Amino acid sequence: MKKYDILAIGELNVDLLLNRIAGFPEIGKEIFAEDMTLTLGSSTAIFAANAATLGARVSFIGMIGRDSFGDVVKSTLALRHVDISNLIEVGDAATGLTAILNYDNDRANVTYPGAMSRMGVKDLRPEIIREAKHVHVSSVFLQENLHRDLYEIVRLVKDCGATLSMDVQFDPAETWDFDCARILPLVDVFMPNEQELMAITRKDSVEEAVAAIRPYAVVTVVKMGTRGSLLVTRDGQHVLPAMLNKQVVDAIGAGDSFDAGFVAAYVQGKPLKECQRIGNLTGAVNTTAAGGTGAFTSKEAVAAAAEKCFGQKLTL
Ligand SMILES: Nc1ncnc2c1ncn2[C@@H]1O[C@H](COP(=O)(O)OP(=O)(O)O)[C@@H](O)[C@H]1O
Ligand SMILES: [Mg+2]
Repeated sequence: MKKYDILAIGELNVDLLLNRIAGFPEIGKEIFAEDMTLTLGSSTAIFAANAATLGARVSFIGMIGRDSFGDVVKSTLALRHVDISNLIEVGDAATGLTAILNYDNDRANVTYPGAMSRMGVKDLRPEIIREAKHVHVSSVFLQENLHRDLYEIVRLVKDCGATLSMDVQFDPAETWDFDCARILPLVDVFMPNEQELMAITRKDSVEEAVAAIRPYAVVTVVKMGTRGSLLVTRDGQHVLPAMLNKQVVDAIGAGDSFDAGFVAAYVQGKPLKECQRIGNLTGAVNTTAAGGTGAFTSKEAVAAAAEKCFGQKLTL
């Protein structure tokens, strides 16, 4: 019996949202924002928090500074029942932060990656990984050293006996440097969205991209927004249309919530098509409330939204 169902390895940062700002900032001037929120921002954190809400025993390896934003990260994860005992706190780098300036439907973001860009394979302790049934690695391009060491990291996870899922997320540099032939054979469930899959394979269609990774990939699930998801196994493909939400509050974190539902089902040994159904469902539930974790206040709340908005059972 392993201590953790899921060990998330990835980024941790806080989002500082400034809303209803009097105008665009100008050098040498000062303006007011009428509203401000400080929240846990990163994609891996949304995944971990929501997987824990769905009932999985989740721990996290991520790097933060020994500072007050680091305290925000820790207390928010703990409140969501994510184990924080494996977080790495460093004294010589600050916790990452994204400042988000919201203007109507548009936003200007500035990110300081801070501590999270420094975590590499040498920071990952095998004895912790051996305590996990499953490892989820995400945001591989956002974290400089994790990206550099990605092959060694997936190798280490497999040597420690865990199953592995991976969500690449966006590459801010847009170079999309990802060695499919080396990495994918070690990934049990690969979870990109369609743009990311086309970018890493340098193909113009999802069909061509899927064909390009077929020699290497074990199981792939491609997230396709309002069109749902595509499950690709060595035996075939299965498109599951989205459980469409016509009154989307926002789609922030929909992909992370999809991953949380899919992986929470996967670690329970559910058939892949059922994992896909639960992924589509938790992705859809995510869009019924603000932000990536707003709809995930409790497992009961997720199950209720699943029934009420989509007529679906949360069978976790
Ligand atoms: N408007 C929506 N209504 C219902 N489900 C949605 C909606 N938007 C996204 N989803 C679900 O969430 C999943 C992940 O969203 P997507 O936007 O594809 O991921 P990402 O955030 O990684 O780009 C989709 O595969 C879909 O099942
Ligand atoms: Mg995504």
